[in-house]
Amino acid sequence: MRRIEFFLIAVFLLFVCGGYISIPIYLDDTRGIEERVEDALNRMTLQEKIAMVHAQSSFSSPGVKRLGIPEIWTTDGPHGIRAELFWGNFKEAGWGNDSCVAFPALTALAATWNREMAYIYGKSIGEEARYRNKTILLGPGVNIYRTPLNGRNFEYMGEDPFLASELVVPYVRGVQQNGVAACVKHYALNNNEKNRHTTNVIVDDRALNEIYLPAFKAAVTKGKVWSIMGAYNLFQGQHCSHHHRLLNQILKQDWGFDGVVVSDWGATHDSDEAIRNGLDLEFDTKDSKMPKLSAVKYDNYFLAHDYLNKIQQGKYGTEELDDKVRRILRLSFRTNMNRARPYGSMLSKEHYDAAQQIAEEGFVLLKNEGILPISRENVKRILVVGENAVRMMTAGGGSSALKAQIEVTPLQGIMELVDESIDVCFARGYKTEDYEGAKVMAGYSLEETRSDEELAREAVDLAKNADYVLFFGGLNKAKKQDCEGHDRLTMSLPANQDALIDSLLQVNKHLIFVNISGNAVAMPWVGRVPAICQAWYLGSKAGTAIARILFGEVNPSGKLPFSFPVSLDRSPAHVKGDYPGTKKGNVWDMVYREGIFVGYRWFDTFDKNGVLFPFGHGLSYTKFMYEKPSIDRQKMGAEECVKISVLVKNIGMVAGKEVVQLYVGDKKSSLPRPVKELKAFQKVDLAPGESELVTFVLDRNDLSFFNDRIQKWVAEPGEFELFIGSSSVDIRGKVKIVYTGK
Ligand code: BGC
Repeated sequence: MRRIEFFLIAVFLLFVCGGYISIPIYLDDTRGIEERVEDALNRMTLQEKIAMVHAQSSFSSPGVKRLGIPEIWTTDGPHGIRAELFWGNFKEAGWGNDSCVAFPALTALAATWNREMAYIYGKSIGEEARYRNKTILLGPGVNIYRTPLNGRNFEYMGEDPFLASELVVPYVRGVQQNGVAACVKHYALNNNEKNRHTTNVIVDDRALNEIYLPAFKAAVTKGKVWSIMGAYNLFQGQHCSHHHRLLNQILKQDWGFDGVVVSDWGATHDSDEAIRNGLDLEFDTKDSKMPKLSAVKYDNYFLAHDYLNKIQQGKYGTEELDDKVRRILRLSFRTNMNRARPYGSMLSKEHYDAAQQIAEEGFVLLKNEGILPISRENVKRILVVGENAVRMMTAGGGSSALKAQIEVTPLQGIMELVDESIDVCFARGYKTEDYEGAKVMAGYSLEETRSDEELAREAVDLAKNADYVLFFGGLNKAKKQDCEGHDRLTMSLPANQDALIDSLLQVNKHLIFVNISGNAVAMPWVGRVPAICQAWYLGSKAGTAIARILFGEVNPSGKLPFSFPVSLDRSPAHVKGDYPGTKKGNVWDMVYREGIFVGYRWFDTFDKNGVLFPFGHGLSYTKFMYEKPSIDRQKMGAEECVKISVLVKNIGMVAGKEVVQLYVGDKKSSLPRPVKELKAFQKVDLAPGESELVTFVLDRNDLSFFNDRIQKWVAEPGEFELFIGSSSVDIRGKVKIVYTGK
């Protein structure tokens, strides 16, 4: 063969084989994501694109099998990875390898006031999600605590937009570093469960921007979250899962969100709106208006055959569809097509340790007249009272219910901690009606044939001879007691808990009430019970954490992420707002008349006596002294920052953590403002005698409010007061500053 022939054949072979061995751009992860997205998109047929924007099962959407693009698997969220469900319904599939570590509910995380805890939470739950091959974790939830009746408050991060924003960002980062997308929910204004599909929120733009949007905005702009869930409710007459202003304008245009908008399950109601108004991925549609075009239910979804027909008939081009598909592909390249992502892990010691640490930091000591911690030395007998001492709290509550591998109940935690020298006895004391979701633990059955009187009598008799009575009461994640789909009917404790507390107090003054709930409860006996604790739903290691705190192995350091009103009629949404709204046709108009005055913003400004336990409150077994705060300048210009420092010292006998809180008050402004608003906080860990200088830096953003007349955040020149405190009412120091505006 002549040299030239050999050369030509070689070039030909290289050309032909090269075509086969070179991988398509979308599979080549040395390329940038956007280039891969475009390449994959260009290879997809119209039908494949349509298939991608709606579900194929209760919790998954198809990828493109022909191209090797994997399915997307979502999972609840937000406190652990939900058990596997059947393909087309919500029943547990009965797998043997799908139990999880249950992390504390998000109110407990918020009560840690610790960004590090939020990161550890996100990282650990993200690892569990990754191990279980999930693409999207349906959480965290950041809807604002507006009314104590909201059945899902336990899944959220409290009443303050700043606190929620600071914690959602590390949670999201922790999850996503595993190559699993977080899905922040429920965007937006989903602040009650009653009529959740038909509530039409009417709120002014100021409250929208100052109170209800910031945590979502932080998740998007700072946390770079890869997906977000549209809420069930309506806002200004349009459903939030396909809401032009919320999704197209605010989320995608103003905040630059490049991820996927997922509908809440069954939150899609119209194909034209879904096509045009920014919904990218439709789940679990049940709407009766859904077109019946196929025997396969998923094909009848609004973004399925109907959408395809509308494109084929020329009503729509593919511009909107391509945008949706691009977003989904981008999410895939970040998650299940990211070959560099870690493998994840589950049920590890690290995860249990994280769950316990978060639980211990989130536990809030509300009141303590020197009775806690319990010293084991002088104690012979402890009576544990209450259904919640033995009830599993990782079950129940709706979509966040978990199949926990382990759940240590409070009674178990106590039994494990104390030795035989202490006699621990248990009396149920009261029974709630609904056992749904509550599974039997520790050989103790929740089935009960005794009457309320018999149960109470047993507890009171045993209390007479006990050194301490530990009452575990509160709510229980059954319907209307902290559960999705229902609001509570009152703020009162269910069953005859209040009466039982009164009876127990008559025979034993050493009563410690541990409230298990994700919500504020009324406490008519508050002045007579010497110690009260808020123990949330603390997950797999709940009992261990609770026992360690009650017996002083751990010093409590949680602070309330929302205010406890003295009664429901003092809560701003009920004084001012019009919960549950007024029925107009098919919807319930609910006007948020209290505007920006949510939680402590309301109590501080209008009703100081209306609060039982304030926002930011939480006691410790030690004491912290705050020195006078100092400030580096008296005047601050528009481009300047101000530094406020305060020395905090542990002056007690045990180590402890304190959350130093900074609130800003505008002395005079053109629009009404609350007395003060949280703008910074820092948790410090101090040994006895140790002190730490805590420094906060503020700029004009921290002085601003949203002026809805001009649709802008503004800081008005004038005097501001900076409050440094241990809670929103326990203010330890103040400094003034003048903002020049120039
Ligand atoms: C809830 C969501 C949840 C979804 C899937 C809905 O009912 O509102 O928070 O992620 O179900 O279970």
